[in-house]
Amino acid sequence: MKNIVILISGTGSNMAAIVKVAQRDDWRGKFGARVAAVMSNRADAKGLDLAAEQGIATAVLDHKTFASRDAFDTALAELIDRYDSPAQPLLLVLAGFMRILTPGFVRRYEGRLLNIHPSLLPAFAGLHTHQRALDAGCKVAGATVHRVTAELDHGAILAQAVVPVLPGDTADTLAARVLTQEHLIYPRVIAALLQG
Ligand code: GAR
Repeated sequence: MKNIVILISGTGSNMAAIVKVAQRDDWRGKFGARVAAVMSNRADAKGLDLAAEQGIATAVLDHKTFASRDAFDTALAELIDRYDSPAQPLLLVLAGFMRILTPGFVRRYEGRLLNIHPSLLPAFAGLHTHQRALDAGCKVAGATVHRVTAELDHGAILAQAVVPVLPGDTADTLAARVLTQEHLIYPRVIAALLQG
Protein backbone atom coordinates (compact mmCIF):
# COMPACT_ATOMS: atom_id res chain seq x y z
CA MET A 1 0.00 0.00 0.00
CA LYS A 2 1.23 3.49 -0.82
CA ASN A 3 0.39 6.13 1.75
CA ILE A 4 -0.66 9.55 0.56
CA VAL A 5 -0.35 12.20 3.26
CA ILE A 6 -1.95 15.56 2.49
CA LEU A 7 -1.00 18.80 4.25
CA ILE A 8 -3.56 21.62 4.37
CA SER A 9 -4.01 24.95 6.10
CA GLY A 10 -7.57 25.93 5.22
CA THR A 11 -10.62 24.86 3.26
CA GLY A 12 -9.03 21.74 1.90
CA SER A 13 -11.01 21.69 -1.34
CA ASN A 14 -8.05 20.28 -3.26
CA MET A 15 -7.65 17.62 -0.59
CA ALA A 16 -11.36 16.84 -0.88
CA ALA A 17 -11.05 16.55 -4.66
CA ILE A 18 -8.16 14.11 -4.29
CA VAL A 19 -10.05 12.02 -1.73
CA LYS A 20 -13.12 11.95 -3.97
CA VAL A 21 -11.24 10.83 -7.06
CA ALA A 22 -9.27 8.26 -5.03
CA GLN A 23 -12.58 6.70 -3.99
CA ARG A 24 -14.33 7.08 -7.33
CA ASP A 25 -11.45 5.59 -9.29
CA ASP A 26 -10.55 2.97 -6.69
CA TRP A 27 -6.92 3.97 -6.18
CA ARG A 28 -6.73 1.28 -3.50
CA GLY A 29 -7.55 -1.50 -5.93
CA LYS A 30 -5.87 0.03 -8.96
CA PHE A 31 -2.66 1.43 -7.49
CA GLY A 32 -2.57 0.02 -3.95
CA ALA A 33 -2.74 3.58 -2.68
CA ARG A 34 -4.82 5.35 -0.08
CA VAL A 35 -5.09 8.79 1.44
CA ALA A 36 -3.70 7.76 4.82
CA ALA A 37 -3.71 11.06 6.68
CA VAL A 38 -4.53 14.75 6.44
CA MET A 39 -2.47 17.12 8.58
CA SER A 40 -2.83 20.82 9.21
CA ASN A 41 -0.87 23.56 10.91
CA ARG A 42 -4.19 25.17 11.87
CA ALA A 43 -6.75 23.55 14.14
CA ASP A 44 -9.56 25.50 12.43
CA ALA A 45 -8.77 24.20 8.93
CA LYS A 46 -12.18 23.24 7.56
CA GLY A 47 -10.73 20.37 5.58
CA LEU A 48 -9.92 18.45 8.75
CA ASP A 49 -13.61 17.76 9.48
CA LEU A 50 -14.20 16.61 5.98
CA ALA A 51 -11.24 14.22 6.12
CA ALA A 52 -12.39 12.85 9.46
CA GLU A 53 -15.88 12.27 8.04
CA GLN A 54 -14.27 10.13 5.36
CA GLY A 55 -12.54 8.05 8.04
CA ILE A 56 -9.13 9.49 7.26
CA ALA A 57 -6.69 10.03 10.12
CA THR A 58 -6.14 13.71 10.91
CA ALA A 59 -3.53 15.58 12.90
CA VAL A 60 -2.97 19.21 13.86
CA LEU A 61 0.42 20.69 14.57
CA ASP A 62 0.11 24.36 15.43
CA HIS A 63 3.19 26.14 14.12
CA LYS A 64 2.67 28.95 16.63
CA THR A 65 3.59 26.60 19.48
CA PHE A 66 7.08 26.00 18.09
CA ALA A 67 10.07 28.22 18.77
CA SER A 68 11.47 27.99 15.25
CA ARG A 69 10.67 26.92 11.72
CA ASP A 70 13.16 24.08 12.12
CA ALA A 71 11.48 22.81 15.27
CA PHE A 72 8.08 22.82 13.59
CA ASP A 73 9.33 21.03 10.49
CA THR A 74 11.13 18.42 12.59
CA ALA A 75 7.95 17.67 14.55
CA LEU A 76 5.90 17.60 11.35
CA ALA A 77 8.34 15.17 9.75
CA GLU A 78 8.03 12.89 12.78
CA LEU A 79 4.26 12.77 12.30
CA ILE A 80 4.55 12.22 8.57
CA ASP A 81 7.15 9.49 8.90
CA ARG A 82 4.63 7.31 10.72
CA TYR A 83 3.12 6.85 7.28
CA ASP A 84 6.37 5.95 5.54
CA SER A 85 7.93 2.51 5.42
CA PRO A 86 9.43 0.23 2.75
CA ALA A 87 6.10 -1.62 2.55
CA GLN A 88 4.06 1.58 2.59
CA PRO A 89 6.02 4.31 0.82
CA LEU A 90 4.90 7.87 1.22
CA LEU A 91 3.66 10.44 -1.25
CA LEU A 92 3.48 13.85 0.42
CA VAL A 93 0.96 16.25 -1.10
CA LEU A 94 0.80 19.93 -0.22
CA ALA A 95 -2.71 21.24 -0.86
CA GLY A 96 -3.05 24.83 0.28
CA PHE A 97 -0.42 24.30 2.97
CA MET A 98 0.57 27.89 3.67
CA ARG A 99 3.95 27.36 5.29
CA ILE A 100 7.39 27.81 3.84
CA LEU A 101 9.26 24.57 4.40
CA THR A 102 12.88 24.39 5.50
CA PRO A 103 15.44 23.04 3.01
CA GLY A 104 16.04 20.09 5.34
CA PHE A 105 12.37 19.13 5.25
CA VAL A 106 12.21 19.45 1.48
CA ARG A 107 15.36 17.33 1.03
CA ARG A 108 13.94 14.63 3.29
CA TYR A 109 10.94 14.17 0.98
CA GLU A 110 12.53 15.06 -2.31
CA GLY A 111 11.08 13.12 -5.23
CA ARG A 112 7.86 12.37 -3.37
CA LEU A 113 6.72 15.87 -2.49
CA LEU A 114 4.17 17.75 -4.62
CA ASN A 115 2.50 21.14 -4.46
CA ILE A 116 -0.24 22.98 -6.28
CA HIS A 117 0.22 26.69 -6.85
CA PRO A 118 -2.51 29.05 -8.10
CA SER A 119 -0.61 30.61 -10.98
CA LEU A 120 1.02 29.61 -14.22
CA LEU A 121 4.53 29.17 -12.83
CA PRO A 122 7.15 30.50 -13.24
CA ALA A 123 4.90 33.58 -13.25
CA PHE A 124 3.69 34.77 -9.84
CA ALA A 125 5.45 32.55 -7.34
CA GLY A 126 4.51 33.48 -3.78
CA LEU A 127 1.29 35.05 -2.52
CA HIS A 128 -1.61 37.09 -3.97
CA THR A 129 -1.24 35.40 -7.35
CA HIS A 130 -4.68 36.32 -8.71
CA GLN A 131 -4.47 40.01 -7.87
CA ARG A 132 -0.98 40.13 -9.35
CA ALA A 133 -2.19 38.46 -12.56
CA LEU A 134 -5.01 41.02 -12.79
CA ASP A 135 -2.66 43.92 -12.08
CA ALA A 136 -0.29 42.69 -14.79
CA GLY A 137 -3.15 42.64 -17.30
CA CYS A 138 -2.83 38.90 -17.95
CA LYS A 139 -5.35 37.50 -20.42
CA VAL A 140 -5.02 33.99 -19.01
CA ALA A 141 -4.32 32.64 -15.54
CA GLY A 142 -4.19 29.18 -14.07
CA ALA A 143 -2.60 26.71 -11.72
CA THR A 144 0.50 24.54 -11.63
CA VAL A 145 1.21 21.18 -10.04
CA HIS A 146 4.93 20.91 -9.42
CA ARG A 147 7.55 19.03 -7.52
CA VAL A 148 8.81 20.83 -4.45
CA THR A 149 12.40 21.94 -4.21
CA ALA A 150 14.12 24.18 -1.70
CA GLU A 151 13.47 27.24 -3.89
CA LEU A 152 9.87 28.39 -3.32
CA ASP A 153 7.47 27.44 -6.16
CA HIS A 154 10.29 26.44 -8.52
CA GLY A 155 10.30 22.63 -8.79
CA ALA A 156 9.68 20.72 -12.02
CA ILE A 157 6.27 21.43 -13.52
CA LEU A 158 4.07 18.33 -13.79
CA ALA A 159 0.82 19.87 -15.04
CA GLN A 160 -0.82 23.20 -15.65
CA ALA A 161 -4.37 24.34 -16.27
CA VAL A 162 -5.18 27.58 -18.03
CA VAL A 163 -8.33 29.69 -17.61
CA PRO A 164 -9.29 32.97 -19.26
CA VAL A 165 -9.21 36.23 -17.34
CA LEU A 166 -12.63 37.78 -18.01
CA PRO A 167 -13.65 41.43 -18.06
CA GLY A 168 -14.72 42.50 -14.58
CA ASP A 169 -12.82 39.71 -12.84
CA THR A 170 -11.78 40.29 -9.25
CA ALA A 171 -9.15 38.27 -7.44
CA ASP A 172 -12.00 36.24 -5.94
CA THR A 173 -13.82 35.42 -9.19
CA LEU A 174 -10.53 34.53 -10.85
CA ALA A 175 -9.49 32.39 -7.86
CA ALA A 176 -12.77 30.48 -8.03
CA ARG A 177 -12.32 29.82 -11.77
CA VAL A 178 -8.78 28.62 -11.22
CA LEU A 179 -9.78 26.46 -8.26
CA THR A 180 -12.23 24.40 -10.31
CA GLN A 181 -9.32 23.50 -12.58
CA GLU A 182 -7.03 22.75 -9.64
CA HIS A 183 -9.54 20.12 -8.55
CA LEU A 184 -9.16 18.41 -11.92
CA ILE A 185 -5.40 18.51 -12.46
CA TYR A 186 -4.16 17.64 -8.98
CA PRO A 187 -5.88 14.23 -8.70
CA ARG A 188 -4.89 13.53 -12.32
CA VAL A 189 -1.19 14.12 -11.64
CA ILE A 190 -1.25 12.03 -8.49
CA ALA A 191 -2.95 9.14 -10.31
CA ALA A 192 -0.33 9.33 -13.06
CA LEU A 193 2.50 9.21 -10.51
CA LEU A 194 0.89 6.29 -8.68
CA GLN A 195 0.57 4.46 -11.95
CA GLY A 196 4.26 5.08 -12.62
C1 GAR B 1 -5.48 26.71 -3.63
O1 GAR B 1 -5.87 27.68 -4.58
C2 GAR B 1 -4.00 26.43 -3.76
O2 GAR B 1 -3.54 26.46 -5.09
C3 GAR B 1 -3.41 27.56 -2.97
O3 GAR B 1 -4.26 27.70 -1.87
C4 GAR B 1 -5.57 27.28 -2.22
C5 GAR B 1 -6.02 26.25 -1.22
O4 GAR B 1 -7.36 25.93 -1.41
N1 GAR B 1 -2.06 27.27 -2.60
C6 GAR B 1 -1.15 28.21 -2.41
O5 GAR B 1 -1.36 29.40 -2.53
C7 GAR B 1 0.22 27.70 -2.06
N2 GAR B 1 1.19 28.73 -2.10
P1 GAR B 1 -7.97 24.61 -0.73
O6 GAR B 1 -7.59 24.64 0.75
O7 GAR B 1 -9.44 24.77 -0.90
O8 GAR B 1 -7.40 23.42 -1.44
